[in-house]
Amino acid sequence: MKKYVIKGLKRKQTLEGVYTVSGSKNSGLPALAMSLLFKKEVTLKNIPEIEDIFKLSEILEKIGIKVLIKKNTFKIDSGKISSSKIDRFLGGELRASLILTGPILARTGSVEFYFPGGCSIGKRPIDVTLLAFEKLGAVISGRGDKIIIKSKEKTLIGAEIIMPVQSVTATENIMMTAVLAKGKTIIKNAAMEPEIEYLAKYLNLVGAKITGAGTPVIEIIGRNGKLLENNVPEYVNMADRIEAGSIAILAAVAGKDITIRHFVKDHLENFLQTFDQIGVKYEFIQKNVLRIKKQNIKSFKGVNIKTHEHPGFPTDLQSQMGVLLTQAKGESRIFETIFESRLDYLSSLSRMGASIKKWNIYQAEISGPSKLKAKRLMALDLRAGFSFIIAGIVAEGKTTVDNSYVVRRGYENILNKLRQIGVDIEEI
Ligand code: EPU
Repeated sequence: MKKYVIKGLKRKQTLEGVYTVSGSKNSGLPALAMSLLFKKEVTLKNIPEIEDIFKLSEILEKIGIKVLIKKNTFKIDSGKISSSKIDRFLGGELRASLILTGPILARTGSVEFYFPGGCSIGKRPIDVTLLAFEKLGAVISGRGDKIIIKSKEKTLIGAEIIMPVQSVTATENIMMTAVLAKGKTIIKNAAMEPEIEYLAKYLNLVGAKITGAGTPVIEIIGRNGKLLENNVPEYVNMADRIEAGSIAILAAVAGKDITIRHFVKDHLENFLQTFDQIGVKYEFIQKNVLRIKKQNIKSFKGVNIKTHEHPGFPTDLQSQMGVLLTQAKGESRIFETIFESRLDYLSSLSRMGASIKKWNIYQAEISGPSKLKAKRLMALDLRAGFSFIIAGIVAEGKTTVDNSYVVRRGYENILNKLRQIGVDIEEI
């Protein structure tokens, strides 16, 4: 198991340079799935070359789809699909493989997969997706972990779907499935994350009829099984808002002068408001270019954050913000409302010297500021892993973050990108 070793700056602010945010993981994954709606090869640009994306590509290849990767450009030819079964091993390793189930079902009339299983950030059920498939006229069967879904008719039939919870992947999955269904589908209580709106905008450019994406009610007029034909203009993936936010937090606690390119303000409004409340100073020097200069960290104030579906504070930035709050003066409260294990990282921060009271699995209080001391830590999930890198940079001494693989799953070329702004980090 590889690990990161980080030499801490002992609360000095020395990092400087330009950091360029990669293409988004969480819109790249549905973009790969979207290629299944096309008759011919599609070209997807600015796709991050990270483990999760490679795994999803491998699953596509196993069902007969051709994937050609060249420097963040993916050419995917879904002209022929030879199987509707998602590889058990790969699907089990990557929860996001669920995103393929709808497009495969819409395309072939059936899909077979294994329950994506538990995950280090919580239970992550799939009931919303299954409920939606049933509404669209599919029959679900299976035994044990195996799930078999078959369309009753030749094509799925548009329907009204009320999501019991706002699920990002379920919204994307059902939206894509409905593009090939017969008639109108309405998704109510849909998730509103920017990745969903981005996907819908592109699909509309190439012939789909989707309205309301980015709001809680989405309407899709289906194409009655007719595949999309025209991949013009090519798909260019949006920037990764979570990577952008992660680096902004690092810059706030350890930066001398950092410029972040592809920081899309509209995607991170709630996050920036939290920066304002804490007292982090920043400026946009151009559209989507954020500059963070050396901060007066002593003036940072504790705040309360509550994670929420978009446009609320993103759960994917909660642990990184938790590290920043160990450096702010006074009490901060964190309320994680999306995933039940996403406060687990706090025990590691406590070991490093942070003052934390965890009230229950969802709520905790951080009192700052604290001096952090290097420790050996285990990256629990992608985001907690990145928050440990930030903590290691702030701390005194050499921090080891075991299981660096999970961080690489979601942050492209992260070792070099961090080194370029002056972080003393190696992966061994
Ligand atoms: N939920 C259900 N039933 C379902 C689906 C979800 O109860 O059928 C619940 C979940 O347990 C959770 C909530 O609904 O409490 C939201 O989960 P959601 O389905 O929205 O999460 P997801 O689509 O599996 C995506 C991102 C996650 C991100 C969440 C929340 C992708 C590939 N993943 O997951 O990203 O945390 O939305 O914003 O888009 C990450 O990048 O580190 C990551 C985990």
